[in-house]
Amino acid sequence: MRAVVPGSFDPITRGHLDIIARARGVFSQVVVAVGRNTTKNYLFDPDERLALVRAAVADMPGVDVEPIDALLVDFCRDRGVSVVVKGVRFGSDFDYELQMSQLNRMLSGIETVLLPAGHEYGTISSSMLREVAANHGDISPFVPPTVYAAVRRKIGY
Ligand code: PNS
Repeated sequence: MRAVVPGSFDPITRGHLDIIARARGVFSQVVVAVGRNTTKNYLFDPDERLALVRAAVADMPGVDVEPIDALLVDFCRDRGVSVVVKGVRFGSDFDYELQMSQLNRMLSGIETVLLPAGHEYGTISSSMLREVAANHGDISPFVPPTVYAAVRRKIGY
């Protein structure tokens, strides 16, 4: 069975990669869908986020990466996928994901499977890492080397 793991991935972190790898442990194939939330401001543009995700999962068998150009539910329907997987770190993630999953199920009948975030990666978020990087802090423990290099290049430190 195939599953879609959607997200903004601005940028992709080791926490995201853990969720993708564990989703792949449950489902035979995983499509990582790089989308956008129109209420968010991004550091990386869609093509950059897509390229960083592609590089980060290049050595994971059974994992593909594609951009979401419209609604997530339409992306899933066009590919015949009926399950979405999202990672959950803490209560506020759950509140947000519950709302989104109910909306997506009402829009198309798609099911959402929530995976608890691994303790190894704690509660790190892309937005906190962007904040640390904006102040020239070391985010290398939390992201793959290609992402670290891209963030430093983008911010200029
Ligand atoms: O990492 P994020 O920001 O939680 O990812 C959000 C994302 C990209 C998965 C979500 O915004 C999304 O699915 N965007 C595509 C457009 C869509 O379907 N929006 C309605 C979802 S309620």
